[in-house]
Amino acid sequence: MTQNITTDRILILDFGSQYSQLIARRVREAGVYSEMYAYDASDDEIRAFAPKGIILSGGPESVYADNSPKIPQAVFELGVPLLGICYGFQAMTAQLGGVVEAGDVKEFGYAKIDISQADKLLANMADEHNQSQVWMSHGDKVTKLADGFSVTSSTPSCPYASASDESRHFYGVQFHPEVTHTDKGETLISNFVHSICGCGSLWNSENIIELRIKQLQEQIGNSEVLLGLSGGVDSSVVAALLHRAIGDKLTCVFVDNGLLRLNEGDQVMQMFAENMGIRVIRADAENRFLTALAGVTDPEAKRKIIGREFIEVFSEEARKLDGIKFLAQGTIYPDVIESAKSKQGKAHVIKSHHNVGGLPDDLAFELVEPLRDLFKDEVRKLGVALGIPYHMIYRHPFPGPGLGVRILGEVKKEYADILRVADDIFMQELRASGWYDKTAQAFAVFQPVKSVGVVGDGRRYAWVIALRAVETVDFMTARFAHLPYDLVDKISTRIMNEITDVSRVVYDVSSKPPATIEWE
Ligand code: XMP
Repeated sequence: MTQNITTDRILILDFGSQYSQLIARRVREAGVYSEMYAYDASDDEIRAFAPKGIILSGGPESVYADNSPKIPQAVFELGVPLLGICYGFQAMTAQLGGVVEAGDVKEFGYAKIDISQADKLLANMADEHNQSQVWMSHGDKVTKLADGFSVTSSTPSCPYASASDESRHFYGVQFHPEVTHTDKGETLISNFVHSICGCGSLWNSENIIELRIKQLQEQIGNSEVLLGLSGGVDSSVVAALLHRAIGDKLTCVFVDNGLLRLNEGDQVMQMFAENMGIRVIRADAENRFLTALAGVTDPEAKRKIIGREFIEVFSEEARKLDGIKFLAQGTIYPDVIESAKSKQGKAHVIKSHHNVGGLPDDLAFELVEPLRDLFKDEVRKLGVALGIPYHMIYRHPFPGPGLGVRILGEVKKEYADILRVADDIFMQELRASGWYDKTAQAFAVFQPVKSVGVVGDGRRYAWVIALRAVETVDFMTARFAHLPYDLVDKISTRIMNEITDVSRVVYDVSSKPPATIEWE
């Protein structure tokens, strides 16, 4: 069987489980391209995707509830292997003539499956007792298999922990192979995509770069492309990728809004313009942003002003350029999934994180989005493979409005200058102590209040700096990082000694929820 990076692909149908995205990531980690569609994708969409296998995700519903999500008919008719996970297994069973019932008890947590028949799916999963540790999370369970299926593993409370109909290549598991709590989850996913679906392990940085460059060259031809470069991971990777694909047909505009970290503007120019030879126009717009922000204290109003000014400055620079046909953007796959969900009205906005609205009508460019189908970890690996320094790629996230939301209340240059130095000291010490990589995000926050201190024989009446460091995986919830007191001591002493305008440093001990990560 010939293997091909563009045709070896797995479709994941999402029935609403919190783990659905993880399935897509695990399949990609196994070296196979995958995409996630909503369970009610049309038969035509499913056929057009031309998957070599389909995975049906878990979901919160019960198959017998009114209007419960159904597996589209095309899924059974395509003739490709199927793997149903949890709800996916139950729905498959019910639709193929088996029986699913409400369990007496909900099963949630670790379980050991007894493997009675190591079919292709469970190959190499069993330990010396023919068992394997898995993660369960379900209420309903399959109580009678559909015709053609036979049981392959069970637990004391779940007679059909997994089952298969190998003649049709239909497989089902009640447990969740995509979560790390399932010991051999990776093996199961790999068994499915490789030995059952016949996909090769082709989805890796080197091949993705080669494929993307070819696609970009085809899409762009000899035209000119414009990119808004922020110095963040996504736009940096887009810049490096486009530069490889189309060389000097790429022009980047870097808007320095005066709310960046210490020396960040110079570093971006050094990295992209000097080291990589990319054409970057730096728009120094500090005064303009600060003027627009003068007197404004409301966080949402500040975000909107920063977003609006960005668009204006960027548009002015774009209008100075001739012959641009395309606008490149660093949209990544989770953005695509999230915006599809919010269109269904499921999102609840706590802070407006949409930094950039659309460009004005006179700048009607076609879009180039070379990262649109990639997860963040894939984008990072691509960045490293493209030669962007590791420390830029594995940097903590930095919000679009920058220090604008880390200076509480009104933003002033004096405050931003103090905050930049304090933040830099904090980062230096986190890196030196090895804590930078143990925290997901850390930064200093400027408090526009004065506090009394004493220096030598004198009294100091100066500003307060708060330090914030959090541990989190998804940024939806976060725990304040338990930094060692000695480290906090060293950081606060340095900040107060090295910045005469700071008289006090405090450490933020709030977790999210109820606090958010940023202070505004
Ligand atoms: P919160 O403060 O909501 O932050 O707990 C969660 C994550 O989002 C980042 N954040 C932003 N990012 N524009 C951005 O691009 C924004 O306006 C914004 N506000 C918060 C924050 O840094 C954290 O990583």
